[in-house]
Amino acid sequence: MIREDIKKTLINIANSSKHITVLTGAGISAESHIPTFRGPEGYWAIGSQEYHPQEMATYRMFTDKPYEVWKWYLYRMGVCAKAEPNPGHLALVEMEKIFPDRFTLITQNVDNMHIRAGNSLTRTFQIHGNIFFVRCAGECSEDVYIIPDGLKGKEKGEDLSKEEKELLVCEDCGGMIRPHVLWFDETYNEVYYRFQSSLAAASQTDLLIIVGTSGATNLPNQVAWQVYHNSGTILDINIEENPFSKLAIKSGNGAFIKGPSAEILPEIVDALKNS
Ligand code: APR
Repeated sequence: MIREDIKKTLINIANSSKHITVLTGAGISAESHIPTFRGPEGYWAIGSQEYHPQEMATYRMFTDKPYEVWKWYLYRMGVCAKAEPNPGHLALVEMEKIFPDRFTLITQNVDNMHIRAGNSLTRTFQIHGNIFFVRCAGECSEDVYIIPDGLKGKEKGEDLSKEEKELLVCEDCGGMIRPHVLWFDETYNEVYYRFQSSLAAASQTDLLIIVGTSGATNLPNQVAWQVYHNSGTILDINIEENPFSKLAIKSGNGAFIKGPSAEILPEIVDALKNS
């Protein structure tokens, strides 16, 4: 159960014209059985060599071993396609309905779960992309496409067929297509990852709810610190303490709420609804 003082803060925000931003990480999808990034299931084997996601999810690896990188993404895409949104995702859909014009969702997840659950594309900034989409690896245009029909989720280690390899081709220039995701050796931008839009949302945010992230990436940190410096309230929901927990506790009326997001987020939405 969330504390009474936190409920009070939520009710005050609900009864005002204040802006709410929710920032999510892999933890919100953990209860949908999608492995987190830094959890124990993140490794990928190529031959006898094991690689971390931080090595696989790079432009450099894609340049060296494009088909291995595609195998890894198609495996992960299959895991995400089989998963279902959990009560945490559904609570955020409710939240958007309650505050349609003062709600922003910033997600680091590429799993498409927020959109599948029902959050709107206009209010959801997918700052690390979405693995169900592709674009030209050579950037012959800025267009982003739904992944070609013939490319389905694969089992771990399953090789790409000749037909699948043929689908990994850009229809405009004949070069290769890549997953529409931000890799570790790349930088944020507005056109693909809503970089400026996220910072603009942060500058207007009165309440920031951070959910299931280890705080290891750049833009989420910029968002959290901006809200903190603007004297906003930060609530951090996570099963473990993380770099955002202390910042949340130090923020005005903020708190670290220890627990699974699939339990805590519906409680938060109940508090907001009953105000
Ligand atoms: N409820 C809430 N939090 C949870 C739950 C849960 N049920 N399960 C796990 N967590 C928390 C973990 O304690 C951890 O803090 O979720 C966090 C997951 O951390 P990471 O695996 O590091 O994922 P994330 O923070 O989203 O990673 C950020 O880094 O690897 C890149 O681009 C990738 O988007 C990813 C980004």
